[in-house]
Amino acid sequence: MEKDSMLFVADHPLIKHKLTIMRDKNTGSKDFRHLLEEITMLMCYELTSDVPTIDVEVETPIAKMTSQQIEEGHMAVIPILRAGLGMVEGILNLMPVAKVGHIGLYRDPATHKPVEYYCKLPEDIETRYVIVCDPMLATGGSASDAITMLKARGCKRIKFLCLVAAPEGVEKLRHDHPDVKIYAAALDERLNENAYIVPGLGDAGDRLFGTM
Ligand code: PRP
Ligand code: URA
Repeated sequence: MEKDSMLFVADHPLIKHKLTIMRDKNTGSKDFRHLLEEITMLMCYELTSDVPTIDVEVETPIAKMTSQQIEEGHMAVIPILRAGLGMVEGILNLMPVAKVGHIGLYRDPATHKPVEYYCKLPEDIETRYVIVCDPMLATGGSASDAITMLKARGCKRIKFLCLVAAPEGVEKLRHDHPDVKIYAAALDERLNENAYIVPGLGDAGDRLFGTM
């Protein structure tokens, strides 16, 4: 796959190590949840590297100075239900006052196309830097539809954060939303005939919530 500045794929040993444990079919829901939160935090470090800062005055025990802060009140996290919920705490650990909206989509098992069932967003969503999160970018249908819904509400600054991406999903997002940068912990080989990522980690929502 062609590399471009709108796709970041992590190359950090800690992320690789933790993702390997998540991929293991013998890893249970408790560890899976914890590892997803940890990797999300590590990915969030990279994702926020270009977020603007403002100057603030601070008094250290030694002297007054001008220092920098992120306007956390300008951020929003939008998990795609269900599996995206497992990434919210990881982001809020780093940016506790970010607002959280929810978009509910499920993939129709026959067509693999996303079906919308819920949408509740912060009132002022169009003014915020938006992080859409979902562990799996498979066909890209769910992520693309969620971003389309956010753009219809006026959002202009959107990033997409996932754990495992398939080339097919990256291509779809690039095509539908070329302005949205994708952050993935890993880029896998392909989709199988059921539109599951190979090798992937199985059904992220089921593994997260123990509904297998
Ligand atoms: C999974 C996953 C994504 C979607 C990815 O959700 O969490 O939302 O599939 O597939 P796509 O890129 O082909 O759209 P699923 O529909 O299984 O719902 P769930 O999170 O409620 O389990
Ligand atoms: N959804 C998942 O949870 N896993 C996949 O591999 C594809 C879609």
